[in-house]
Amino acid sequence: MEASTALSRIGLAGLAVMGQNLALNIAEKGFPISVYNRSTSKVDETLVRAKEEGNLPLTGHYSPRDFVLSLQRPRSVIILVKAGAPVDQTIANLSQFMESGDSIIDGGNEWYENTERRMLEVADRGILYLGMGVSGGEEGARNGPSLMPGGSYPAYLNIKDIVEKVAAQVEDGPCVTYIGEGGSGNFVKMVHNGIEYGDMQLISEAYDVLKVAGGLSNSELANIFAEWNRGELESFLIEITADIFRVKDEHGEGELVDKILDKTGMKGTGKWTVQQAAELSVAAPTIAASLDCRYLSGLKEEREAAAKVLEDAGMTDDVWKVRGGIDKKRLIDDVRQALYASKICSYAQGMNLLRAKSIEKGWNLNFGELARIWKGGCIIRAVFLDRIKKAYRRNPELASLVVDPEFAKEMVQRQEAWRRVVGLAIQAGISTPGMCASLAYFDTYRRARLPANLVQAQRDLFGAHTYERIDRPGSYHTEWTKLARQKKGGIGAFN
Ligand code: 6PG
Repeated sequence: MEASTALSRIGLAGLAVMGQNLALNIAEKGFPISVYNRSTSKVDETLVRAKEEGNLPLTGHYSPRDFVLSLQRPRSVIILVKAGAPVDQTIANLSQFMESGDSIIDGGNEWYENTERRMLEVADRGILYLGMGVSGGEEGARNGPSLMPGGSYPAYLNIKDIVEKVAAQVEDGPCVTYIGEGGSGNFVKMVHNGIEYGDMQLISEAYDVLKVAGGLSNSELANIFAEWNRGELESFLIEITADIFRVKDEHGEGELVDKILDKTGMKGTGKWTVQQAAELSVAAPTIAASLDCRYLSGLKEEREAAAKVLEDAGMTDDVWKVRGGIDKKRLIDDVRQALYASKICSYAQGMNLLRAKSIEKGWNLNFGELARIWKGGCIIRAVFLDRIKKAYRRNPELASLVVDPEFAKEMVQRQEAWRRVVGLAIQAGISTPGMCASLAYFDTYRRARLPANLVQAQRDLFGAHTYERIDRPGSYHTEWTKLARQKKGGIGAFN
C-alpha cells in the first residue's frame, strides 16, 4: 500500500499560463498538488511561484511516471495543454502509468467530439474522463474560475470537493456544477465563448456609435462604461472596457486603445459555435455577426483599399449629417438600452443552441444552473446572469429568454431606444452588425406572420417543394406558372 500522506491529492500537467495559475489556486485551497510539464523550466517556474506565494503544497515532477505515481488513488490528473493533438500526446504519455479507476480531466478549449472519442479510448483501461471548460483567463484560473466539467460522473465526484473550493464563489454557491455526460462540458464552454464573442462585438459597436456619432472622448467613454457597470449592464467585460479607455500610450500621445491595429484574432471556439448553430438549425445571428466581423476586421489592407475605391466613386463620410442634431445625453442612454436589449437576444441564441444540443445528445442540461455558474469567474460574468438563472428556474421549458415575462417587458421598454440607435448608425454609415442582428432576430421572432409564405410559394413554383396552408391540413402543390399565365383573351398574363 502507498503511504498516502506523502502523496498528492491531485495532479496537473501542462504549466502554461492557465495550468500554472490553476495549480497554484488548487494548492492555495489546501489540496496538495503534483505538477508536471514536458519542458522542465515550467516546472521550476511553478515551484518558485508556489514558494513565493506562501509555501503552497505543490510538488514538481520531471518525468510522467514520477508525476503519476506521486498521486493518491484513485488518481485525478488535470491536463491543460493546447487543444487537439497535444492532448492526445499528453494522454498517451501519462495514461500508461495510470490504473483502472483513475481519471483524466482535460481543462482546455477542446472540441467536444474529441473528448467523447478520448473518453471511449481510455475506457478500455478503466480510466475515467472529464472534459472541463475553464473560463476566466489567467486571473480567474489563479483566484477562482468558472468550471464546466462534463463526462464521467464518478470522475467528477472524485474532484467535487476540490473544484467547489477552487471555483469562483458567488452568493448562491461555487461557480461549478456537473454539466452532464459526454462532451457536454466542452460544448457548454464553447457556447460560453460564442456568447463572449457576441458581448464583445456589441460593446465595440456601442463604443463606435458613441465615439463616431456622439463624438465622445476616451475619458468620457471610460466614465460612461464605469457608470454602466453600476447598473443593469454590470459585468466583467464592461468593467475592463472602462479600464481600457484610461490607459495612456507609453510610446506617444493619447490613449493606447487608439493605437491598436483593428484586426481581431481568434482561436476557433466562436466559429465552432456558429457551425453548431447551423448544424442544429438554431438561429444565432448575433453570434454569427460577431464572427463575421472578426473575419472582416482581418481584411485590414483590403478594407483600406475599399475605402479608397469607394471614396473615389463618390462615397462621403456622412457622420456629420447626424452629429449636428445629436443630444449626447440621450444618445448615451439610448446606446445603453440598445446594448442591453441586444445582449438579451444574443444570450437567447446561445441558450437555445444549448437546448437543441442537449435534446440531440440527451445531456439534460440545466440552463438555470449554467447561468448560475457563469455569474462569477468567467469572461461573460454579469449581474444579469442571475436574472437568466431565475427565468429558467421559473420555467425550465422556456422557449426563449425573449418571452420570459420579465425579459419581455425589458425588451419592450428598450425597443424604442434600440431602434433609434440602430437607425442612427445606419444613417451615419456606422456598421452595427451585432445590434442589427439582435434587433432583426427580435423582430422576426416576435412576429406571428412572416413573409415566409412567399418563399414557400417560390419554392413550390420552381421546385415543386409543396407548401402547407393556414386554413386546412395537408401539403399542397400548385401549377403556379400555368395558372398565372393562363391566357386571358389570347394575351399572356406575363406580357
Ligand atoms: C475564457 C475565454 C478563453 C478564450 C479566449 C480567447 O473563457 O477564459 O473564453 O477561454 O480562449 O477568450 O478566445 P478567442 O481567441 O477565440 O477570442
